Amino acid sequence: MAANTIELNRRRHNFEGVESIWLFGYGSLIYKVDFPFLEQRPASIDGWVRRFWQGSHDHRGTPEAPGRVVTLIRKSGAVCKGMAYRVSPAVFEHLDHREKNGYLRLSVRLTFDDGSQSDGLVYIATEDNEAFLGAAADVDIARQIARAVGPSGPNSEYLFRLADSLRRLGDHCSHTFAIESCLQSIGKNDI
Ligand code: SIN
Repeated sequence: MAANTIELNRRRHNFEGVESIWLFGYGSLIYKVDFPFLEQRPASIDGWVRRFWQGSHDHRGTPEAPGRVVTLIRKSGAVCKGMAYRVSPAVFEHLDHREKNGYLRLSVRLTFDDGSQSDGLVYIATEDNEAFLGAAADVDIARQIARAVGPSGPNSEYLFRLADSLRRLGDHCSHTFAIESCLQSIGKNDI
């Protein structure tokens, strides 16, 4: 799949006559809300886990030294917690550009914290995208994050802000927290 997903995403959904739609955020969309929304509610989706398995060439790294950002991987029985935003479809113009490095908009069933549900969309970087990096040991992911810097800033800032947001949401994401603690113990000489 092409590295730039803007055109693919534009063709994926027909928003004609749709006034608003729920968007589920599980990574930077939780803490960097640079888009207008009509409503915001903590929510979760079933059957997916958050993983730092996606390369970032355009935000938190460069093509020569990509950073690592999160995507979702299917896992039966898993629950991924995040933040849902009810947005106007016009917002996807901006978000498709922001998430263009491999992320596709997929349909998903959201469960809000009060147990009610709704259909929505989520950006997921699937394993067939060119920037997908896949699994690695926590310490190796942390070392790569410690080194990487891109136009949106240091990759470490992405991880630390996400970890803080997840704690505020009451989510215990053992993958994110394990990499956070590796990153905290990495000295400058270790990277
Ligand atoms: C998301 O936050 O929902 C997508 C991944 C990211 O932008 O970090």
